[in-house]
Amino acid sequence: MAKDPGRVLIFDTTLRDGEQSPGASLNLEEKLAIAQQLARLGVDVIEAGFPFASQGDFAAVQRIAQQVGGGEGPIICGLARASRADIKACADAVAPASRRRIHTFIATSDIHLEHKLRKSRAEVLSVVPEMVAYARSFVDDVEFSCEDAARSDPEFLYQVIEAAIAAGAGTINIPDTVGYTTPSEFGALIAGIDSHVQNIDDAILSVHGHNDLGLAVANFLEAVKSGARQFECTINGIGERAGNAALEELVMALYVRRRYFNPFFGRDADSPTPLTAIRTEEITKTSRLVSNLTGMVVQPNKAIVGANAFAHESGIHQDGVLKNRLTYEIVDARTVGLTDNRLSLGKLSGRSAVRARLEELGYDLTREDLDEAFARFKDLADRKRDITDRDLEAIVSEQVQQPEAHFQLRLVQVSCGSSLRPTATVTLADEDGQDQTAAAVGTGPVDAVCRALNALVGEPNELIEFSVKSVTEGIDAMGEVTIRLRRDGQLFSGHSADTDVVVAAAQAFVNALNRLVAGCGRQPLHPQRDVALADLRPGI
Ligand code: KIV
Ligand code: ZN
Repeated sequence: MAKDPGRVLIFDTTLRDGEQSPGASLNLEEKLAIAQQLARLGVDVIEAGFPFASQGDFAAVQRIAQQVGGGEGPIICGLARASRADIKACADAVAPASRRRIHTFIATSDIHLEHKLRKSRAEVLSVVPEMVAYARSFVDDVEFSCEDAARSDPEFLYQVIEAAIAAGAGTINIPDTVGYTTPSEFGALIAGIDSHVQNIDDAILSVHGHNDLGLAVANFLEAVKSGARQFECTINGIGERAGNAALEELVMALYVRRRYFNPFFGRDADSPTPLTAIRTEEITKTSRLVSNLTGMVVQPNKAIVGANAFAHESGIHQDGVLKNRLTYEIVDARTVGLTDNRLSLGKLSGRSAVRARLEELGYDLTREDLDEAFARFKDLADRKRDITDRDLEAIVSEQVQQPEAHFQLRLVQVSCGSSLRPTATVTLADEDGQDQTAAAVGTGPVDAVCRALNALVGEPNELIEFSVKSVTEGIDAMGEVTIRLRRDGQLFSGHSADTDVVVAAAQAFVNALNRLVAGCGRQPLHPQRDVALADLRPGI
């Protein structure tokens, strides 16, 4: 069996493959906040981005390497196509991390060779060791991926993998790039690699998969039985098209069914040693943070992190659960950090109580950020009697969205009702702090607010998604609004929470407009689709 760490390494690619989801682009502060939370979650590797894509992507990977990749922190990894320019940019970006990795890849399926790369198998076979060795000249830890491996000829794969390992790759990743394979096929592919590649014992076998047929998690769980020891996955399963294998589902499957999986790791079925290093109690918080910052709403029936995943709605189920939880519950909600949403603070709580609770929740804020969070807390406490942990989390995640805001929302006022035409007045401050006010009528109060904001900003856009959900129960609960705007085929999302959903909608709209103006959703170079000259002539 391939080099075996004795458990499954979790390689999180939320910030790279996850960010490739349409409209999920994140600014630097948001990426940093997610990377910090991924470190708290206990992932082994953070794939922080594709540094060659743009200066912004490079800066984000470098900042994460500096601030999250210190000491015993996770390995910080960057993606690079098999070209010198990509690999050099990646090496520079991950350099500040104490444990750093370059992840380089090239396609191996005939369909990609013929139509995308326009290379022969022999050419690919010569590029691979050259580029892996080049990456090794910068770092000790190199991962190599055979893009579209699941549709590649296994015999050719064996040759490519052997060459990559011989050139110094310590991890070999087998992606199901288009989500085409099935569990038994994927398991057989991994088993074939494990038994046919002569030097496979010198590398860790990794899997990466997309969810086009809804099989990504099932495929990984089969692969692990054949020797895969690294899972590449994303929070909430976000990613290209139908997304990637969901981290929370993989981790909880290995946790809940460890008696089944233990023997594949050479352990006793009853061994209590965890199969991953993930702190499962951090899962819910990480899921919410990623959803809030990317604007990718989690479907209510989503396994592990959906709002209904632990809700026992039907009478029969409630009765059973009350008699004995095991009747209908395979995971204790507390295991994934879904607490009883404890009432934590109120109007009279002081700054130090707020800081202490935020610290308990895992937020270590700077003095300025704490000042701002406290001001927001006070404002909320004037309108809501009990402030829960979820409210605090909403306050903090909202703050992360607005550090370099171009427009600041100063005022929202609406009049509406059964016999009124919904009318909104809004005031925005621009970059120079100049206030401007506009009013508009709409089909409803939110429509009126959006029209008034559009009139002020003058940036053409189309509202394509507006969703509201309540943060907690109760009539005074905050409403969370997610908005998506489209311009020139690109998506820009905004998120906000407030006890007044119209105010939340206005702020979410402004957050999305700020991204649109900053070009945050610009189409950066796509690592897989954009084949640069450098791909065709790797020497440059
Ligand atoms: O899906 C894929 O093949 C990838 C590779 C770059 C690993 O994301
Ligand atoms: Zn992928």
